[in-house]
Amino acid sequence: MNTMEQVATAFTDLTQQPCAGVWFAPGRVNLIGEHTDYNDGFVMPFAIAQGATLAAGPRTDDSVQITSIDMDETHVIEARDLSPGSGGWQAYLAGVVWAMREAGHRVGGVDLTLASNVPIGAGLSSSAAIECAVVAALCDIFELDIEPIERAKLARVAENAYVGAPTGLLDQAASTLCEADAALFLDCRTFDSRQVPLPLSRHALEILVLDTNTPHSHVDGEYAERRASCDRAAELLGVQALRDVTDLDEALEALSDEVMKRRVRHVVTENERVLHAIEVAESGNLEELAPLLDASHTSMRDDFEITVETVDLAVETARAAGALGARMTGGGFGGCIIALCRAGSADGIGQHVAAAFEQKGFGAPDWFVATPQQGAHRLA
Ligand code: GLA
Repeated sequence: MNTMEQVATAFTDLTQQPCAGVWFAPGRVNLIGEHTDYNDGFVMPFAIAQGATLAAGPRTDDSVQITSIDMDETHVIEARDLSPGSGGWQAYLAGVVWAMREAGHRVGGVDLTLASNVPIGAGLSSSAAIECAVVAALCDIFELDIEPIERAKLARVAENAYVGAPTGLLDQAASTLCEADAALFLDCRTFDSRQVPLPLSRHALEILVLDTNTPHSHVDGEYAERRASCDRAAELLGVQALRDVTDLDEALEALSDEVMKRRVRHVVTENERVLHAIEVAESGNLEELAPLLDASHTSMRDDFEITVETVDLAVETARAAGALGARMTGGGFGGCIIALCRAGSADGIGQHVAAAFEQKGFGAPDWFVATPQQGAHRLA
């Protein structure tokens, strides 16, 4: 049985009804543009094959029944108990029902049965995959005509207000808007977006995604701290957001705090790198992405200070083993790296990293080759 059949069967076993449909939303890797989204900046993610698969159907009452096949758990939440901060993995689904109702959409009770193969805590947006699958299902079931970018924003409300993680729009936009064989260019202020073709195999290239399996300790606190520091810097500089800093030297001179200067330098240069990456990708020079990935990593390591030992070792080893460029992807403090590699070389590079980890006494990494996939859609 494939995952789609599994969730549909589990749904029927539980509710004694056929589901109304099955939906899928992917996780993502961010090619470049890290911690730029909540600074009104630019990002360039693509969707991966791993994602959340969701069978769903309407109920006759207004409560929400949520089942996870992976956790082997079911929760029934009554409408009046849908409230921010109520916790647990089920919050990623319940939060979407709450966010859509809060926004005034007529969303009735639903049964939701979920399976996901996005590794949790790896920086591949396992939570956005779930949220975006739920939005897609609810839009179809309750016949809501909501634009893709607005769907992403609703999923983000669930993440920010219900789950309580103060993230930007990157993950939900990627999971909703991405298309196969392309990266998404998103302006996180105007919400303008476009698809940037990424024909990797035509250029004899591939992208290795390697999960360092380093747990995200204190990730929420550190993430919120970085965000607060960026907001404070924008305030001191008298701009709406760090995206508006046009003269980096002048901005650095105006700030006295050394740590804050580094944070600002990361955000400003990272935005420039995204724009540069779009330019090289659109002109078909995919190999020229490599030095941008390298520079992004250095900036995250030295200026934004969000990498950890395993992540740095993975990036350095991947490069030494032949990767053209490599960087950490996602929120940081562990999780995954991506490496731009010559076609056919990614697996060997992964093995080199595994050997380096073993030598240092780190736990074994996992890896796969990622090709850009389609965003959230209905499977059945
Ligand atoms: C996490 C957040 C995103 C984004 C990235 C860093 O993935 O969910 O909104 O801020 O970190 O780029």
